[in-house]
Amino acid sequence: MERTVEAELQRLRKEIEECRVSPLAESSPRVVFGEGDPLSPMTIVGEGPGEREEQEGRPFVGRAGQLLDKVMATVGLTRGEIWLTNVLKRRAFEMVEGRVKNRLPRANELAVYKELLDRELRIVSPRLILCLGNLAANVLIHRGFRMTKEHGQWFSGVSGRKLMATFHPAYILRLEGAEFDEIMRQTVDDFTAAATDYRVLREQSPADIHQQPAAGKESRDTQPGGNRGRGYPSSLLGRESKS
Ligand code: URA
Repeated sequence: MERTVEAELQRLRKEIEECRVSPLAESSPRVVFGEGDPLSPMTIVGEGPGEREEQEGRPFVGRAGQLLDKVMATVGLTRGEIWLTNVLKRRAFEMVEGRVKNRLPRANELAVYKELLDRELRIVSPRLILCLGNLAANVLIHRGFRMTKEHGQWFSGVSGRKLMATFHPAYILRLEGAEFDEIMRQTVDDFTAAATDYRVLREQSPADIHQQPAAGKESRDTQPGGNRGRGYPSSLLGRESKS
């Protein structure tokens, strides 16, 4: 059977779509899988689909996605040249006072989607991962990640992979005035640093950049000492989670 990156991704996507017992499958009818260039050295990982993403079946197509597009355009990146995905592949939501509200995943949900993200990352094997928001940073960099202090810093992952986190666009959209301007500035700085590294990697040959990291070592794959803090999900419930 063909084992190209695209074929592997299709298989994983189908598996997620057909699994009716995985958490969120009952409440959220549509899988939102990653998209873009699966051979890109750079992957951007968000939190999970919201209402618009669920309707369209594509990541980051709502207001947060529009802001993401703007920030990417500012640093000269396009969606077609990176792999764009989320930790969650289905929408997590709850009813609050009669209204549907996105929510963070519960521990059992996260365990399943972390595993699926690991498999996805093993297939696309990026050299550089940019995490958007606390959930992705906690899953892929270290627990208890503190965005205000640690955004824009590089962390080392498996096989020389580099990881960085920056503010989630949905969080930025909730800010106003000077605070909005300041966090936008910091976010653009972080994207600039990531885009600079990405361009260096792009210039290398595909054989060099598309390495297969060690099996089973994707989630929170930073080196010892990088995984500080304990406890999930309480450590994630800062201001920065998606609303
Ligand atoms: N927020 C995310 O984290 N991912 C999306 O796909 C959309 C909004």
